[in-house]
Amino acid sequence: MNALAWDWEVFTAAVGDAVWAPSIHNSQPWRFRCTQAGIDLLADPGRGLPACDPDGRAVRVSCGAAAYNLRLALAVAGAPAEYALGRAGVLVRLTPAAARPANPQQHRLYREIRRRHTNRSPFSEVPVEAAAVARLVEAAHDEGGWLHLVTGGKALTDVAELIRTADAKLSADPAYVAELRAWSSAADQRVEGVDRRAAGAAPHPAELLTRRDFGGPAHDTTRELSREPLVAVLGVPGEAPADEVRAGMVLQRVLLTAADLGLAAAMFSQPIEVPAVRERLRRLLGRADAPQLVLRFGYAPTTCFTNRRPVADVIEPES
Ligand SMILES: Cc1cc2nc3c(=O)[nH]c(=O)nc-3n(C[C@H](O)[C@H](O)[C@H](O)COP(=O)(O)O)c2cc1C
Repeated sequence: MNALAWDWEVFTAAVGDAVWAPSIHNSQPWRFRCTQAGIDLLADPGRGLPACDPDGRAVRVSCGAAAYNLRLALAVAGAPAEYALGRAGVLVRLTPAAARPANPQQHRLYREIRRRHTNRSPFSEVPVEAAAVARLVEAAHDEGGWLHLVTGGKALTDVAELIRTADAKLSADPAYVAELRAWSSAADQRVEGVDRRAAGAAPHPAELLTRRDFGGPAHDTTRELSREPLVAVLGVPGEAPADEVRAGMVLQRVLLTAADLGLAAAMFSQPIEVPAVRERLRRLLGRADAPQLVLRFGYAPTTCFTNRRPVADVIEPES
């Protein structure tokens, strides 16, 4: 029998880290396969979200984020990978690179994989230091993407308005609402979806940035309604499926960098999910590329973590 590209234990341990990536509605739409040629990351066809993601864009972004974790885990294990995007039916193929120790930055980001989480709680009014903001922008750039800071009251109000418009449009679609409910749950022990504790309080009409309504408890009136959050839009050059996978890698590198800086992060993809609003956002930013995600960063206490499915559920068995 020919040897696999990676030792099976190294592979399964790396997948154990990869699954802590963010994914749309915590749907974990990925599968991993280790062969003689390398590790393939594939979309799980049974885990698409037809109402909010009919083209599978968010699935590819989610898988890209998992691929970034996988690369980082292999690098830290001393068995780094090269990667290729865009093979038929395979979102990412990792192949062994020359063995070398991981650098300090890779170690630091790796340590954040299981500490990072989406934070839907109120953020403090304390502004994020300029040096930290610069690190986030640099992280996106180093991974081949961009992070466009939304600065100034007018730009912020305009982006907030696009989020609100998109959220209202989505929420008027019964299929979208039913899908969102199916992936939100009061149960704390579910291994997928966004449970009520992670969902945070229900969005309040006066909130500047309209959060997706995962069915959390009634809004807490003590919640801050910050008027000056740090908001950024993430993107990559190009809009092909492989570019969307790369956007996921950029996203995860930015999120792990934020966690390493002690920053909380929240995501808003409603304006990306409504094509006309996405186009308005692109024009507002003056970008050639379509935006892939709106992010908010700031300071906030750690909140609840979502769960993950067991590794055995996401790997193709050893053959
Ligand atoms: C492509 C993409 C889009 C997302 N959109 C939103 C969103 O609109 N609102 C939100 O609260 N979280 C959003 N998230 C965050 C996921 O809900 C979150 O990653 C998932 O529930 C897992 O939780 P964790 O990030 O805390 O590990 C998005 C994540 C991805 C990858």
